[in-house]
Formats: sequence, C-alpha cells, structure tokens
Amino acid sequence: MLKRTHRLHELNESLIDKTVVINGWVDRIRNLGGIIFVWIRDRYGVVQVLFQPDTPAYEIAKNLSGEYVIGVEGIVRERPKDAKNVDLASGNIELLAQKVEILAESKTPPVYTNRDEGSEDVRLKYRYLDLRRRSIQYNLIFRHKLIQKTREYLNSNDFLEIETPYLMKSTPEGARNFIVPSRIKQGTFYALPQSPQIFKQLLMIAGFDRYYQVARCFRDEDLRADRQPEFTQIDLEMSFVDQEDVQEMVGNLVKYLFKAVRGIDIGDVPSMQYQTAMELYGSDKPDLRFEMKMENLTSKSFSSKLDFLSPRVEEEVKMIVIPKNDVLSRKALDTYSESAKSSNLRLGWAKFNGENFVGSIGKVLSTVHDLNVKTGETVIICTGKKNDVNTFLGRTRVEIANKIGIIENTFKVLWINDFPMFEWNEEDKRFQAQHHPFTMPYLEDLENHSDDLSKIRAHSYDLVINGWEMGSGSVRIHTRALQERVFKLIGITEEEAKKRFGFFLEAFEYGAPPHAGFAIGVDRLVSVMLGVTSLRDVIAFPKTTSGSDLMMDTPSEVSEDQLKELGIKLEEHR
Ligand code: AMO
Repeated sequence: MLKRTHRLHELNESLIDKTVVINGWVDRIRNLGGIIFVWIRDRYGVVQVLFQPDTPAYEIAKNLSGEYVIGVEGIVRERPKDAKNVDLASGNIELLAQKVEILAESKTPPVYTNRDEGSEDVRLKYRYLDLRRRSIQYNLIFRHKLIQKTREYLNSNDFLEIETPYLMKSTPEGARNFIVPSRIKQGTFYALPQSPQIFKQLLMIAGFDRYYQVARCFRDEDLRADRQPEFTQIDLEMSFVDQEDVQEMVGNLVKYLFKAVRGIDIGDVPSMQYQTAMELYGSDKPDLRFEMKMENLTSKSFSSKLDFLSPRVEEEVKMIVIPKNDVLSRKALDTYSESAKSSNLRLGWAKFNGENFVGSIGKVLSTVHDLNVKTGETVIICTGKKNDVNTFLGRTRVEIANKIGIIENTFKVLWINDFPMFEWNEEDKRFQAQHHPFTMPYLEDLENHSDDLSKIRAHSYDLVINGWEMGSGSVRIHTRALQERVFKLIGITEEEAKKRFGFFLEAFEYGAPPHAGFAIGVDRLVSVMLGVTSLRDVIAFPKTTSGSDLMMDTPSEVSEDQLKELGIKLEEHR
C-alpha cells in the first residue's frame, strides 16, 4: 500500500521538489483531456494532484471517481502564478503524481460530501457520508475542543471526573424515562438516567467534594430542534458551597470556553430574577441581543378608553415597541391580532408617524400623550390574563425581531435566578417540581405560602445564552425531613417515596454536606457558539424529531426469542 508520509495540512511550500505520499478521498476531478486534476481530501485539508498524460499513473487516474480512496506518490511543486488558489490552504502548491494506488472504490454517493445540500433524511440515512462534509467535521472538531477545554478547566479546579451508571432506577426529573427490561430478573426494569442527578448528590455525601462528568442523558420526551432523546451534559456538583459559588465557577467556565474556542471575551455574566425576566421579556430565557422589552400599561388610564383593551379583573395590559422598519406590513400586524384572539387575548397595534398613531388602535392612542414612542415606531398592545399576555408577547417579540432583522451578531449570556419551586401540571391536576424535587426551596416561602405553592421560590438558576436555556442547577436539599416534605407537596406519598427513593432518603441520615450543582447542555452550547439552529449539526449520529435513527433504522422490532428471554409479550400493535 502507498502509505502516507504526510497528512494534507502538512503540504506546503517548504516541501517543494520533495517526494511525498498522501492518502485520502477523491473530492472532485477535472479531466481536461490532456491532463487530469484531482482534489484529494482528508480530515485536515485538500490538495490538488496533477496527472500528466502518457504516464502509468494517468492511466489509473482515468478510472478514478468521486469518493475513491487512493494513495498518491508525487513531487510537490509550486503552482504557476495564475493557478494559485487562495481558497485552499495548500493553494500555492500541487502534487505532480508519479504513482497512484486505488485503496478502495466507491459507488456514486447518494449525498453530497463536499456541499451542504440535499434532503436531511437521506443525509441521515447515509450519515457516514454526510459526516465527510467539511462543515460538519468542523463542528465536531469544535465540540471536541470545547470538551477538552472543559476538562482542562474543571481539572485545574480540583474537580474529579467520575462515571455514573446508565442502568438505574426511574427518577422524577420531568421527562419520561427510557426503560430497559432485565433478563435475569424478568418483569423488572432499569431506567436510563435523565441526568446523573441522584448519583452526583450521593458522590457529595460520599465526600468527593467536587465532581464532574461529561454525561450522556436520556429522556423520552417530545422532540424539537433543540432537544434530542439522548444528549450530553457537562454535569457538576460541589459541596460546602452556596449559589454564588456555583455560579462563579460555571460563569468562569463558560467565559473560559468562549475565549478558548471562539476567541471571544463575553465579560461578566449578569443575573436577572425569574420574575423580572417574565415581566420584561415574557420568557425565562430572554434573548438580550435586542431590546423591545414589555412595558406594563395596566394602570394607565387610557387603556380603559378602548373597550377591547380595557383590562378586566386579573388581567393586564402590556406593550412592546417595535423599532422603525420597512418589513412589517399592516397585514402582518393584523395577523398578530388574529393569533392573539386564538389565545384568548385582545391585541391592537398602531404606528407613530410623528404626530398621530395609525393602525387598529390608532385613534385611541393618538389621544394619549405619555407613551414613549419615536417616529416610525410601531406599538403592539395586548390584554388578557397575565401569564398568557407574557407568553404571547414574549414569543411575538422574538418572532418580530427575527423578521425585521434587528438581532445583533453577538453573545448575551445571563443568569436567571429564583425560579418558582413548583408549577401546576394541568394534565395531572397537581403541582410538580419546576426544576426537580431535590432543589432547595426558600424556607421562608415554604412557611409563608403553604396555601399557595406557586408562590414558593427555589434556590435554582438557569444559564441563558441568546434566548436558549443552556444549563440549569440549584442548591440541593440535604436533610431527610425537608426532602420528604417536598415529595409530599408534589403528591409523592411516604410509601411511594420510600419505594422509589428509600436509598436516597436514607443517605441523608449519614451526614450529607450542604451541596449545589449545575449541568450545561453540551449540544446546545456548541450549537449556539457555532450559530447553528439544529442540534443535529453538532452530533455525529443524531436522532430525527420522531426519535429515529434513519441509518440503523431504529427503533426497530426485536426477535421473538429476545422477547421470550426477557419474559415480554407484546400486545397487538400496528
Ligand atoms: P435540566 O433538566 O435543566 O437539569 O438539564 C440541564 C441542561 O441540559 C440540556 N438539555 C437538553 N439538551 C438537549 N436535548 C434535551 N432533550 C435536553 N434536555 C435538557 C439543557 C438544559 O439546560 N440534573 C439537572 C441539573 C442540575 O440540577 O444540576 C438537569 O438535568 O441545556
């Protein structure tokens, strides 16, 4: 075999007139009749190889085709002045082929390997070919660097990397568990971890003080562009610390990563209360790359002048001001009124022309003199139940900012603090933990609001970047009594708690240190840092939004024998 002496990024002017051997894939071929140019590609780069007629190498080169794997021995030479290619790192040189060997042939690939085009389904089916694309290789190399830098940072801060099991017991972390049947103990099941939460707390109880893991997590939930059924966390936990300590450590880690892999200084990470985020941005993950904050007009007298905007009991009136733009038409603005209606809200809009307001609520607003609006700006005013208004305007704010193109190309990182401890689950008609039930509630809230769980705050915090929830964490409960009390509040009976978490509750009775922690979503962090919108672009072998692996064609059926061995009988299914 013609075995390489150099990888492709190593070929440059310093090797001119030297004989080298390279290996790689045929990226593209230009056959000019008399001469054949072949671009060879490997992970590191692309080099042009030139085959001259009437040579044995030329005769073989005539039969080359895209994606053939070859070895070429040749002499490095400087390209003629007018043939230099500034787009290629090796664009000043080329290889004059002397010998060539075909190491593997290739069928015509069903997907492009050198262009970011084509149906995603086909690309996922032939993912090993899709992964030959330069852009996705770049993303995965970037991800590799980010993980290495993470380890570097955490190791230097005395964190220990400790692995925790994938086969465990089902835990209440919000999503559904994937379950794995046991063969040895038929009729029993493992669950795949939604996160290493319980294990990392047990590691604190065991005295490891600072733990981290680049941990795979599994959640059977409805998927979206920013969710995969299996994903990776940078998971960490610390003992004898409070919220500020964890936020400082994680904030500095994120700062370090931005500097190390993107060369960007993100500055200090500011904090915002959950309540403030909801009031101003209608979201617990506000995108601060643009303004358009909500303004509360409920107490302004003018709102009562317009019947349909006038707030009824327990309703609010809120406004966003859209900067001057040529994009939003009257029709587009009317669409917002329509979709507000379907969310049981009333919405009107008007554009300020310097003197008057023109639009669906133009007349009334023209009589108002204390709205802080500049010429050319458009206001949207929305009325309804507080939470609905917040959610609707929060979503609309982002949609409009995208539409009119005012989102700056920058990174806005912030902490959101003090989430509610509990949230109402309408489906099950009960409260559940908003983060997870191991989170420390504000003890004074627990005493003062035992009649209204929605008012109890938690010592929990999210890291938000550009409108994405990048990570979550909390101070943990570390006494049995409090943990049992929280379980009870979310409807887990004593008996059930004992059955499901007996081991965990028991552990609290053997000297559990105060502890707190955090987990960053790696797939999301890499996506945001690279500016890609789908997690699939930063995962080597991702699942589709319906949870399938199109390459392996899975989930798929298993044989009768396998089921029998597990003691599983399937009900009739389609
Ligand atoms: P949480 O459930 O908030 O917290 O998850 C932490 C972070 O993991 C990422 N993430 C996901 N990424 C891709 N696909 C998904 N389906 C998905 N789900 C979550 C997000 C999220 O912010 N054990 C706690 C952390 C702790 O309290 O220390 C936990 O897992 O970026």
